Amino acid sequence: MNVATGSPAQTRQLGEELGAAAEPGDVVLLSGELGAGKTVFVQGIAQGMGYEGQVSSKSFVIMGEYTGRVKLYHADLYRLEEPEQVEELGLGELTEDGVLVVEWPERGDWALPRGDVSVKFDVKGESHRAITLSGRTERGRTMLNALEARS
Ligand SMILES: Nc1ncnc2c1ncn2[C@@H]1O[C@H](COP(=O)(O)OP(=O)(O)OP(=O)(O)O)[C@@H](O)[C@H]1O
Ligand SMILES: [Mg+2]
Repeated sequence: MNVATGSPAQTRQLGEELGAAAEPGDVVLLSGELGAGKTVFVQGIAQGMGYEGQVSSKSFVIMGEYTGRVKLYHADLYRLEEPEQVEELGLGELTEDGVLVVEWPERGDWALPRGDVSVKFDVKGESHRAITLSGRTERGRTMLNALEARS
């Protein structure tokens, strides 16, 4: 599924739709350069899951936890230095009771559960992003089909 957004609000909206469809156990992996819009998208996911507060950019904190309709775990592996750090997070276990969303998954892919949905962000201009969502599991494909049916 390919979506072009022309503002942060549009990217947030797309995240919100995915968040509304998310259930505990779902894993979403976000890739794209610095400033591509991954955290903006996570803010939308949180909203779509019924979380009302702020979602921060995790430059210094690796893990954020937000409780809305179901739990959302937001991990940003950008500053990961030691392989042990990501293993200590126990990301695989977290997915049992919540939705896991990971920025910079390539930095710790050996310790990550399999992603259901991969989202790739390409910067096309100051306020334009090309966003590609791919279903990596049966569950992920089902989510994206539901999303596409709604748009
Ligand atoms: N269409 C768009 N979608 C998303 N963000 C946009 C868009 N246009 C401009 N922006 C701006 O791009 C920036 C995206 O920042 P964001 O923190 O989401 O990036 P990120 O991918 O999480 O980066 P990092 O890898 O540093 O965590 C914001 O400043 C946002 O306002
Ligand atoms: Mg970010």
